[in-house]
Amino acid sequence: MKLQQQPINTETLDELRLKITRFGLAYQFALEEISTKVNILKEEFRLVHDYNPIEHVNTRVKSIESLLKKVQKKNLPLSLEAIQENIKDIAGIRIICSFESDIYRVSEMIQAQSDIEVVEVKDYIQHPKPNGYQSLHIVMKIPVFMSDRKIDVYVEMQIRTIAMDFWASLEHKIYYKYNKQIPEYLSRQLKEAADMVAELDRKMEQINMEINILKENDPAQPTDQLIFNPRDLMEQMMENMDITD
Ligand code: GTP
Ligand code: MG
Repeated sequence: MKLQQQPINTETLDELRLKITRFGLAYQFALEEISTKVNILKEEFRLVHDYNPIEHVNTRVKSIESLLKKVQKKNLPLSLEAIQENIKDIAGIRIICSFESDIYRVSEMIQAQSDIEVVEVKDYIQHPKPNGYQSLHIVMKIPVFMSDRKIDVYVEMQIRTIAMDFWASLEHKIYYKYNKQIPEYLSRQLKEAADMVAELDRKMEQINMEINILKENDPAQPTDQLIFNPRDLMEQMMENMDITD
């Protein structure tokens, strides 16, 4: 019997190509939007409060390889719709903060934005994972406006301190592609390292708080000695323009 070749329907192929392109773009745009939001917070906070709670920010779109792995793991049908609705970390943003208190500050400011729909919050700082992993995870939906439609895109945000990031990055590196059960004595040592990281964060937060109190009580701070304090001038200008609040 002769094998019947399926005729290629170019219209369907074109449609599919467009769908896949739009799919990938939506995640890229969502990350651009959320990055802009984070940058605005960072800059505004620095100008108004003379303090920057954010050390650095990374974004990534999940690779096709790990996306397909997750589709398989979750037993999902291979359709864009199923992937879009069930895999919520295709777009990821990681915010590295200076201190633990900054994490909650940044999280509150992000969650308060009216176009962000918070889907899930996992607080692995109050409740670390058994291996010691710490971070604040927020899964959110943000609208992306295309030429002819609005797409609500899931974004996974991870917020952590430099110390938490240090542990998580190295833990990932150490166990990357090690598929066997980790020996008990090693996982115990890893947990001990995570406890040290948490202690370090507490210590740095405490030192920072005490320095802030000292600064507040010390009238002879260098900025006070300036004849023109740029921050005060700017605040005054903004008040006069009546654009604050
Ligand atoms: P995934 O299927 O991996 O997305 O897990 P989940 O759906 O249970 O989500 P969870 O919020 O627990 O973790 C999501 C992401 O957090 C992971 O993809 C990692 O980036 C990070 N993460 C979670 N646990 C660990 C951990 O033990 N070590 C490290 N290094 N990263 C972790
Ligand atoms: Mg993940």
